Amino acid sequence: MAPSVYNTSIPTKRVMKLVIDPAATALWDKAGSIDTLQGTIIKTPTTEEGWLAAEQEAATVVEGGNLILLPARVRKLNPKDEDWTKFANKMIELGLAEKAAVEAKDGQKMFDIGGRLYEEACTACHTKYLVPFLPKT
Ligand code: HEC
Repeated sequence: MAPSVYNTSIPTKRVMKLVIDPAATALWDKAGSIDTLQGTIIKTPTTEEGWLAAEQEAATVVEGGNLILLPARVRKLNPKDEDWTKFANKMIELGLAEKAAVEAKDGQKMFDIGGRLYEEACTACHTKYLVPFLPKT
């Protein structure tokens, strides 16, 4: 067999921890608001640096989806199981929607799509392939 053109020596679990999770977490932290005793803090970026960081994070989520689609990383619970690919593609689709929301500087859309990313990509895949997945508290 010809050698693979990809080097997937970093395990999927580490790709999650080192590439995908930091980008997604930082992006989620740039949407929505928190209520404090001093009032409501809007977390949407207010500087060009902040917006650029958000776009970098969204792009990392998109490309992170591609990383887990590399053949050596795709998992199947049975030969007909295509859900891994489906969830990874959902992550790419919603990552691109996040990137568009960032480019439009639309904080509400970032918040809404961020929630969908968590539910429909991260949690959906973890529920099937990583049981039980306990989100960070
Ligand atoms: C296509 C499936 C899939 C998608 C989509 C996915 N994950 Fe994962 N994730 C996994 C699997 C499988 C593991 C466990 C890896 C293992 O045990 O080998 C994991 C593990 C993790 C871990 C634990 C790492 C550790 O060190 O224990 C974190 C954190 C994580 N994912 C975050 C995310 C976030 C955030 C997203 C969405 C932005 C996401 N994942 C999307 C499949 C997925």
